[in-house]
Amino acid sequence: MTEPKVVNITRHIYEEQRKYPLATGGFSGLLSDLMLACKMISREVNKAGLIDILGKTGEVNVQGEEVAKLDTYAHNRIHQAMDHGGHLCVMASEEVADPIPIPKEFSKGRYVLLFDPLDGSSNIDSNVGIGTIFSIHRKVSDAGPDGTMQDLLQTGTRQVCAGYVFYGASTVFVYTTGQGTAAFTLDPSVGEFLLSSPHIQIPRRGRIYSVNEGNAASWDDATKRYIEHIKQFDPETNRPYTLRYVGSLVADIHRTLLYGGIFLYPPDRKSPKGKLRLLYEAAPMAFLVEQAGGFASNGTRRIMEVEPSELHQRTPLIIGSPDDVRDYEAYALGRR
Ligand code: AHG
Ligand code: MN
Ligand code: MN
Repeated sequence: MTEPKVVNITRHIYEEQRKYPLATGGFSGLLSDLMLACKMISREVNKAGLIDILGKTGEVNVQGEEVAKLDTYAHNRIHQAMDHGGHLCVMASEEVADPIPIPKEFSKGRYVLLFDPLDGSSNIDSNVGIGTIFSIHRKVSDAGPDGTMQDLLQTGTRQVCAGYVFYGASTVFVYTTGQGTAAFTLDPSVGEFLLSSPHIQIPRRGRIYSVNEGNAASWDDATKRYIEHIKQFDPETNRPYTLRYVGSLVADIHRTLLYGGIFLYPPDRKSPKGKLRLLYEAAPMAFLVEQAGGFASNGTRRIMEVEPSELHQRTPLIIGSPDDVRDYEAYALGRR
């Protein structure tokens, strides 16, 4: 019996680049630097209960949200790992109001990184799955080596890579460079992410819906009617759906990718434009899910085509199995 191939991220990128060259090299170096930071975050998450890294810092970030110690730790780890590798011309983080320049003493590269260092912060202290989300673009500005806001405000279709690391029962890395969505599982004994699912395919339709029902009273009419529809009893069409909601986008999307169904964060009274951020939550998740055969919408428009105007702009997010998301859009567009 032949031994199964052991494929780590570096080898996977090398094999991808042989088939589909990624414009310039150096990409695997960028991803290796990012994964080193995420392995360090995984180590802290896995012992968070043992050291003083739980709880809040007492600070409030640009989003107006209380900053958890692990948010700060994760941001710092990624910032310090990525600012001197020579791959990036500019970065942006959920935790920082403005673009993060590459220090002048370091060489600049042709890539742009946007990231949510720790997603699901409200779940940190209860040991529920949390994650890191990232999106990578190519530099498009030509006024010099430093990246600008123009490089950060690019539509989802221009992403060269998107991914997340899910710090759950095991630490899983899921990414795409536009040739399908692959998953790797961290083997802590060797400190490597090893390929576990070469091509994730989301079911065309699922039986799970994922939404914070606590906001139901302030949803718009189309959302209320759609959710009522999937809760009706009709075995012919596999209804009612089952509700699963973790409250960490990475955990809810990971389950949706594997089991199918639909995740929704529609506009509500607290978040009239939706709660999730376009550039480092919705757009990377849309790229990953579309590459697995799924679809992502803001209710009426493909997320990947939404033109960003602000770094931390929010968007409604309806994402998952294509037939389920299209059903929601039919309600939102007044066709049902
Ligand atoms: P973050 O921790 O990076 O601020 O993200 C939290 C987000 C996302 O992870 C999740 O889908 C959503 O907040 C949950 O929001 P509610 O608690 O309002 O349901
Ligand atoms: Mn988040
Ligand atoms: Mn976050």
